[in-house]
Amino acid sequence: MEIQKMKIPRHVGIIVDGNGRWAEKRGKKRSYGHKAGSENLEKLSRYILTKTGVEILSVYVFSTENFKRSVEEVDYLMGLFTKKFKNDSKKYKQENIRIIFSGRREPLKEEVLKTMDEIVEMTKDNTGGILNFCLNYGGHSEIIDATLKIHHDLENGVIQELDETVFSKYLYHDLPPIDFLIRTSGEYRISNFMLWQASYAEFYFPETYFPDFNEEKFDQAILEYTKRDRRFGGIDYEKKDH
Ligand code: IPE
Ligand code: IPE
Ligand code: MG
Repeated sequence: MEIQKMKIPRHVGIIVDGNGRWAEKRGKKRSYGHKAGSENLEKLSRYILTKTGVEILSVYVFSTENFKRSVEEVDYLMGLFTKKFKNDSKKYKQENIRIIFSGRREPLKEEVLKTMDEIVEMTKDNTGGILNFCLNYGGHSEIIDATLKIHHDLENGVIQELDETVFSKYLYHDLPPIDFLIRTSGEYRISNFMLWQASYAEFYFPETYFPDFNEEKFDQAILEYTKRDRRFGGIDYEKKDH
């Protein structure tokens, strides 16, 4: 598809959802769906950041609330993340993609944190696009963590006042706002993802379960984005009467 000439979102968010149902539909365990989802994510993220013009991709792979799941499922996911970060770091490095993480480190285990730190370090000088893994991420936690740091810096005179630009600097990363937010699997909710950053995002909710959300489906999503009229509270008076 000729997407180069169209308006492309700078920052895309994907709420990776439907892995479990994808597996259950095939009579398999949920872990089978997580594995398929993680393989799809690796391919799709490289496509998005190297071929479409999107500069930043934030992917929601584990929420603070996902610790409510069984120990078996959480352990499987943590093992999968560790393995993928270890295996895929070379590919991301070669493709000039920088990996960052958003989320709380506590209570992630040492072996997970270690592979996260390694992939961040290995790709830190890459300039071809940013892949932001939101892992043990919660929009509420992010706002609370930022608020605590801001309180500290205000008390100590590091900052004198607070506005939206200053607040953004205290988030896990000071990224531009999310332009386009995709949630797969036919669920129509945000589930605590990027509450600050998604304030003016365009939303898109394909029915597809994440393991089947491929490049072609992403291109369709982008096409839909290009048809949206983003207003940010204003009116384009060249197109409309007062
Ligand atoms: C998304 O798939 C992956 C994570 C939340 C870790 P789910 O595991 O939520 O899959 P469904 O929604 O149960 O199908
Ligand atoms: C949101 O999906 C979290 C991630 C995709 C990582 P969930 O499947 O956990 O969300 P709910 O529980 O359906 O809202
Ligand atoms: Mg789900």
